[in-house]
Amino acid sequence: MDTEVRIGVVGATGAVGTVTLALLAERGYEHVRAFASARSAGSKLPFGGDGLVVEEATHEALGAGDVDLFLFSVGTTASRALVPVAARAGAICVDKSSTYRLVDGYPLVVPEVNGARAVEALDGDRIVANPNCCTIPLTCVLKPLHDEAGLARVHVSTYQSVSGAGAQRMTTLGYEPPGEHDLTMDWTWEGDESDEEAKLRAETRKILELPQLPISATCVRVPVMIGHSEAVWVELESALAAEDAAELLRGAPGLRVLDLPEVPTPRSAAGSDDVLVGRIRRDQATENGLALYLSCDNLRKGAALNAIQIAELLLAGVSVRV
Ligand SMILES: NC(=O)c1ccc[n+]([C@@H]2O[C@H](COP(=O)([O-])OP(=O)(O)OC[C@H]3O[C@@H](n4cnc5c(N)ncnc54)[C@H](OP(=O)(O)O)[C@@H]3O)[C@@H](O)[C@H]2O)c1
Repeated sequence: MDTEVRIGVVGATGAVGTVTLALLAERGYEHVRAFASARSAGSKLPFGGDGLVVEEATHEALGAGDVDLFLFSVGTTASRALVPVAARAGAICVDKSSTYRLVDGYPLVVPEVNGARAVEALDGDRIVANPNCCTIPLTCVLKPLHDEAGLARVHVSTYQSVSGAGAQRMTTLGYEPPGEHDLTMDWTWEGDESDEEAKLRAETRKILELPQLPISATCVRVPVMIGHSEAVWVELESALAAEDAAELLRGAPGLRVLDLPEVPTPRSAAGSDDVLVGRIRRDQATENGLALYLSCDNLRKGAALNAIQIAELLLAGVSVRV
């Protein structure tokens, strides 16, 4: 890990950006700059001893060529405008919006699942996409199961915290009745499913390189501050006993398997780098079926941490090539 690398965090004032700064400080990075919109330029954010003064993310600032790595956590409109400017100036860019996730030629990476794909960006536009906060933990669980017994079909139901909708939404939890946090506030309809459900399917297929995988999702926002949970039903090509699946997942990177009476909860996942997995059992409704439950800190492994892990793979790739 090269702590001398010059890093720009764009969207630094947001829910993901503030966690990104905290994780970078934890990991010993020192040359970090914070960028956001003109609204918060000049404000101060905690970082190390002195904190950071927020700079406006102008084309001039991002295109100056004096930053090695940009971590973007802004919305799609801002990403579309700003990421190419930074990449053209030679920086490695990890983008957490959905802008590049499903575009051919841009790696969509969960390091534990398809980390080798990240370095492909070094031969392309130097842009890597970070998946949706529910896709990341789901693929961490599905990959070892697929490698062992083949995925035939996946059903997933999500229980997503309000921080998944950004810092502004977090300020309203507790002041509005929980019913106000319904999914129509955050997601749009694509036919009869939400864009979140469509993303979860398409991104999972791309990361696992299983373009035909049957996968059906129901995504729901719940009145929880931090931590997304998912109930997952997996149908496998060949039989895998629940105890064997638990052992398999226990040995998989990024996962912490909990045994009853411990179960994954958003409270226990919040602040943890691991995806918590539990309730691993036979799905009584399907042949070769398994059911399980997971919880994950959507701001850490679901966003900021995953992006930093991608960046560290890329930086290692850069130094190997030099
Ligand atoms: N929250 C999650 O769990 C999560 C997980 C995975 C991916 N993501 C993705 O990460 C991105 C950020 O999410 P978030 O939850 O952190 O949102 P957020 O809390 O609303 O933060 C948005 C950030 O973007 C900045 N921004 C907005 N417009 C900008 C512009 N034109 N130029 C520069 N900066 C601009 C904001 O700065 P100001 O303070 O100046 O407005 C703020 O720092 C989104 O694309 C989201 O889909 C979020």
